[in-house]
Amino acid sequence: MPNTFCNLLSNGYSFSKDKNSNLTVSPCCLHTKKIIVDKNLVQQHRSNFGNITDWTDSCAHCHVLEKSGQQSLRQTGPDWIPAGVENQSAVMIDINLDTECNAACVICGEHSSSLWKSENKKFHKIKEKTNKSTQLVDDYIDLIVDTTPLDDVRYIKFFGGEPLFTDTHIKFLEKIKNPGNVTVHYTTNGSIFPKNQVQQVWNRFKTVIFAVSIDGIDKQFDYVRWPLTWTKVSGNLIQLKERNIHNLMFRVEFTANLLNTYYYDKLEQWVSLNLSANNFGDKTEISVHHCFNSAFALESMPLAVMDLIKEKYGPQHVIYELVKNSKKTQKIDEFWNFVNRWDPWRKKAWQECFPDLVPYIPNY
Ligand SMILES: C[S@@+](CC[C@H](N)C(=O)[O-])C[C@H]1O[C@@H](n2cnc3c(N)ncnc32)[C@H](O)[C@@H]1O
Ligand code: SF4
Repeated sequence: MPNTFCNLLSNGYSFSKDKNSNLTVSPCCLHTKKIIVDKNLVQQHRSNFGNITDWTDSCAHCHVLEKSGQQSLRQTGPDWIPAGVENQSAVMIDINLDTECNAACVICGEHSSSLWKSENKKFHKIKEKTNKSTQLVDDYIDLIVDTTPLDDVRYIKFFGGEPLFTDTHIKFLEKIKNPGNVTVHYTTNGSIFPKNQVQQVWNRFKTVIFAVSIDGIDKQFDYVRWPLTWTKVSGNLIQLKERNIHNLMFRVEFTANLLNTYYYDKLEQWVSLNLSANNFGDKTEISVHHCFNSAFALESMPLAVMDLIKEKYGPQHVIYELVKNSKKTQKIDEFWNFVNRWDPWRKKAWQECFPDLVPYIPNY
């Protein structure tokens, strides 16, 4: 039987590595306590998480969401975890083993992107080479497969880095014995068209959710998701749709930042014209969330830009709600430090890409 307070405490396994390169696990990606994976994984998982019966500090993220009336991961657990499943059998898994990425989006950083790491080194003229160890990732996957009860898996999510930039995802999916029961979820930057070998592996699974992060279209995409290009990513999406992969559904992830939020309607229009559903009628949801811990965080948005958004979308629109509900510091200095450093380096100018906002972003 799953844990009755939160099913993920007994049947969720979120794998990542710590700063000493140990493989660690927690019940979900939001839980703050992580334990090192060893051959006693199941017993450790049970004694550290499985017996919890009430809110603890490690579950604060879900607790805060629920207190503010929003849906938490704890509440969606039963959608995936059947009532009769064995306690500690892995049903929901997420894999976050490397940060290899071919992009250096303005909202992201070294914590998630290897390209950001090498760009920072180039900028500061640091010579040391970055090691890319595929052996380590292979070892992590072997350790997961050897220690985790995988017979009841229903849902696997890949984080990154860019999950389609390496073959970590395929190495893990190849080990799943009951793919017909399993939904696989990617959050991807959309720049890498899945090879035939990847499509063949996907074929065996129940559903593949292809959640593509697009924070605008045209020039705005190219600015935020440098050095990726909208031409390439939009072309990939249309081509993938035309492949008619029977179990593949699209989702769009829009990270609302200081500059792109005002232009959300352009993305909505593009999706409704080009990717409103796959060719089998499964609708593409657009999920909107706010940008945080970044020079482009919504928190830094000037009130004048917020007013423009209210005027354009109206006070009830999801986009305005998001802007209204994010704490406002309006501290714009980090933004200016970023653009003054990186725009010339990248041969970009935010003013050309987001011209309507120029009069409303104050100098500091
Ligand atoms: C870190 S990325 C990894 C997956 C993949 N590379 C991608 O971009 O979709 C996961 C998600 O986090 C979003 N993201 C990046 N930086 C963020 C930030 N500062 N605040 C909120 N979301 C952010 C990305 O847009 C993406 O939707
Ligand atoms: S593609 Fe994803 S991981 Fe890579 S830099 Fe952009 S947000 Fe970060």
